[in-house]
Amino acid sequence: MTQTGPAVPLWEKATLREAAGTTLRPGGLKLTDRAFSLAAIPQHGRVLDVGCGLGTTVNHLNKIHLFETYGVDISMHQMKEAPMELGLSQANATRLPFASKSFDAVVCECVLSILPNMSQALTEFKRILTPSGTLIISDIIQRGPLNATGISDSCASNPIDAKRLNHELHIQGFRTTVQEDHSKVLTELAARLIFLGEKSITPKGSCCNKPGYMLLIAKVNDL
Ligand SMILES: C[S@@+](CC[C@H](N)C(=O)[O-])C[C@H]1O[C@@H](n2cnc3c(N)ncnc32)[C@H](O)[C@@H]1O
Repeated sequence: MTQTGPAVPLWEKATLREAAGTTLRPGGLKLTDRAFSLAAIPQHGRVLDVGCGLGTTVNHLNKIHLFETYGVDISMHQMKEAPMELGLSQANATRLPFASKSFDAVVCECVLSILPNMSQALTEFKRILTPSGTLIISDIIQRGPLNATGISDSCASNPIDAKRLNHELHIQGFRTTVQEDHSKVLTELAARLIFLGEKSITPKGSCCNKPGYMLLIAKVNDL
């Protein structure tokens, strides 16, 4: 009898590295730069990347944007390639090892949709942000009725309902200031993956809720 282990998530596969480089998601650092150009984070502010993967965004925000950066990921395996000097640490998005009101910005790129409990993570983001803090999210969203995407073990397995996210943000005390559609970068990455033979993203049969990609910026609404 053949034993099958747990499926390897897409973000740990060589095909994603080949298709996306060291940012394990659509849009790359260009989308990160777009977000920070809109977010107005104070100069040299403290920024936390939650689900930082290989640490590429943390490095970029530190070296190019000159922020005081921190990064956490649940997987040590993901962070092991990151330069030691970045000081990344292992933590769950729903339980962050930082003091309340201690960050000017939290960035969460293609991670929220993976989490079993999005609300708990948002509560935690709100807790560590200052009263003028900013939350930057980029992630896969639903652009049609919610069926299975046919895409397994990636952010695309469970795309976010943007309406639900906005409602949740409002309840948690955030105000959405920017919401942009970036679905083109998802299509481009998906095409590269298909041409590299990545089987997990081949939509099955006639299903598919046309997942899209969104950039959302929300400010803490405490002032
Ligand atoms: C699609 S990758 C994105 C990585 C990175 N944000 C980037 O843009 O390159 C998703 C990342 O979320 C991490 N992750 C999954 N569940 C998490 C959790 N509960 N808390 C923190 N990180 C988590 C994974 O280990 C993985 O590195």
